[in-house]
Amino acid sequence: MRTSDTKDTKDTKNAEDTRAWPFTLHRCTPTIGAEVSGVDLGNLDDTTYRALRQALLDHKVLFFRDQHITPAQHVAAARRFGELEVHPMIGHHPDHPELVVFGRGGDKRGRENLYHSDVSWRELPSMGSMLRCVECPEIGGDTIWVNMAAAYAALPEDVKTRIAELRAVHDAMPTFGQSMDGERYDEMRAKYPPMVHPVVRTHPETGEKILYVNEGFTTHFANYARMQPYRIGSDFRMAEMDLMQYLFRQAAAPEYQVRLRWRANTVALWDNRSTQHYAVQDYFPAVRHMNRATIIGDRPA
Ligand code: SIN
Repeated sequence: MRTSDTKDTKDTKNAEDTRAWPFTLHRCTPTIGAEVSGVDLGNLDDTTYRALRQALLDHKVLFFRDQHITPAQHVAAARRFGELEVHPMIGHHPDHPELVVFGRGGDKRGRENLYHSDVSWRELPSMGSMLRCVECPEIGGDTIWVNMAAAYAALPEDVKTRIAELRAVHDAMPTFGQSMDGERYDEMRAKYPPMVHPVVRTHPETGEKILYVNEGFTTHFANYARMQPYRIGSDFRMAEMDLMQYLFRQAAAPEYQVRLRWRANTVALWDNRSTQHYAVQDYFPAVRHMNRATIIGDRPA
């Protein structure tokens, strides 16, 4: 669903919540996403910040149109939500190392068209991200977000039981290492070793259970073989890969998704703990230029 076409479909609970808030909030789908009007991200007061934080927990991704903010204001707005990271592997804004720059077009294709949660390969993966569109094609280059709490909740009970104690390895290098030369690869490999996180994490603020594996960064289960009561050689490998692929596919179900059509100065703010996203690469060679501030989170548990 395009957010530009959405109408207010608040249920009673949300209608009550939003009445007290200092902005208008239009839900985009029953599952995820809301468009916020009446907020200037360049000038966030405490009341608005607190209400946005609650709205973010409720809707998981918030969209703001017509935010004519400077890169410094972008950084300041994101910093209200927590400390910002400097991404070690993607280029950043010349004056603001906290702003990752995605500059696509000409001979550069976007590579964010894999469902992922930002920097899940870190020991402390991101709590949230704030992405601003600087320039985009008139058509194409949408982004999709997925509610991974809903994706978890809808799993069959036997699958929930199978994955309850599983842990998975998250690694930046299969994605980012491809374009590095040997020396840089070795340096990054040493600084950012593969990280193990639970397959099902509990959201630290809402208590929701979340399916926390993604095709962008999760490479394999860390303890699958230990869960097998009986094995012969590596007979478990196919079942292990099947289960991982099955879990990855949950993110691709439209029922858990919202899709945003960008315009210049649209901002999206999302919760990386409970969502994944996918930047649709259908616009090449048109120009798409985005800046992202990434808020540091806590260790998944
Ligand atoms: C990202 O993966 O954070 C970038 C998403 C986008 O460019 O739409």
